[in-house]
Amino acid sequence: MGRCVARELVEWSGVDAERLVDLLVERALAEMGNYYYYTLLRMHLVGVEGDALRRVVEDAREEDRNHFEALVPRIYELGGRLPATFAGELGGLGDLRNLPAEADVPQILPILLKAAEESVRAYTQLCSVTSGKDNRTYNLVLAILHEEIAHQVWLLEFLGRGATEPSPRTRNISPFVAPYLRAPRPVSLEPAACTA
Ligand SMILES: [Fe+2]
Repeated sequence: MGRCVARELVEWSGVDAERLVDLLVERALAEMGNYYYYTLLRMHLVGVEGDALRRVVEDAREEDRNHFEALVPRIYELGGRLPATFAGELGGLGDLRNLPAEADVPQILPILLKAAEESVRAYTQLCSVTSGKDNRTYNLVLAILHEEIAHQVWLLEFLGRGATEPSPRTRNISPFVAPYLRAPRPVSLEPAACTA
């Protein structure tokens, strides 16, 4: 790894940049994994109950894709890279493999809740690692954390409400992360930067 100013600044402020990049890459892959499994799941949610849960899944799916998109520029700014191939087994939704044609909603809800909890835990840890040190990463992971907590709330609301009432479909997608999706392409994506 050659000279990378963003990384140097983060290290200077007392953050273990290598560990931070590892955590960010892990989260980016988890987000993409969740996006994939949500995509799969939404094709198997049928019937009244399935249809109601599908609306929650579609919103969470869109936001998880945005989380992936928002994380990647920061990873590269810090001199990190995504793996050349995508294993597709990361994230908390791997238990959704081999879904039956008609997904069993009561069986699936605990898997979704567990994955949401795992995301909240991971972003809380990232906030702790960067708080008061790496403000740029901290602001980003805090924005994602707000949306992960919202996913948890949507699922718990669904659990309490069931399919009796339609869920609100007027949700503003990625209210916290949207500004990071408009960020310019990081300097370190230029071939000469942050490389040996
Ligand atoms: Fe996410």
